Amino acid sequence: MQFIDIHGHYAWGIDDGVPSQKEAIEALKLAKENNISAIIATPHVVPGTHNETDIQHFKNRINELKEIASHMQIQVFQGCELFLNHDYNNSLQNQQFIPIENTSYLLVEFDVRKELGKEYEVEDYLYEIDIKGYTPIIAHVERYFPNGIDLERVEEFIDNGYVIQVNASSLLGVHGKTVKNNAYELLNNGLVHVIATDTHRSTGHRIPCLQEVYQLLSKKYDYQTLKTLMYDNPLHILENESVEAIEVNQSFFKKLFKRR
Ligand SMILES: [Fe+2]
Repeated sequence: MQFIDIHGHYAWGIDDGVPSQKEAIEALKLAKENNISAIIATPHVVPGTHNETDIQHFKNRINELKEIASHMQIQVFQGCELFLNHDYNNSLQNQQFIPIENTSYLLVEFDVRKELGKEYEVEDYLYEIDIKGYTPIIAHVERYFPNGIDLERVEEFIDNGYVIQVNASSLLGVHGKTVKNNAYELLNNGLVHVIATDTHRSTGHRIPCLQEVYQLLSKKYDYQTLKTLMYDNPLHILENESVEAIEVNQSFFKKLFKRR
């Protein structure tokens, strides 16, 4: 199966992602080996830190990446990972962010070093993005709940029309046991739309590992579920279409206690 990776810091020399062009080429090679046919480059954009000149620089660098990747038969698309902090409104007003290539989808993240903030704050951020005409894709949702996932809260995000992305590395256990359990709980409850790599390097744990994750997950989940998460929904996003919910085959016991 071919995969589309909607979240990765492949555009070099911008953030804490891939540091050099040389390493970006290595990361692209690894993506190719992992059957990744398209990448959305999503450098961190931090409101209050980055300005219009920075955003233009990010776009130029993504175009350089696109040129290199085209020789490896990998498509590259524009994007960013907008960090939602107290200055976010300024960035929103001034269009200092990069939506996913010609679509109304915008990848956003919260601070992974602490528990997801209070409802009024987080939900307000997302609502503001929504009313500006963008659909938030919430990056690595499993990483914001150090005391266990709040399924109801994630379900509310989905009810509001937001897209839920889980990191491949979380499913491999790179971010610890709780994050891993959170990721699987989300999957088992059908509360994930996309699995992406959040690639930061060409070696180590934060790499383009979709083939490895696919092989692991295929022991537990059916082909169509994984195709929806790793190809169909990413393609829907690139085509500015609605994403699909996954239908996870759950055991009788789990169905009996299904939450709604
Ligand atoms: Fe990221």
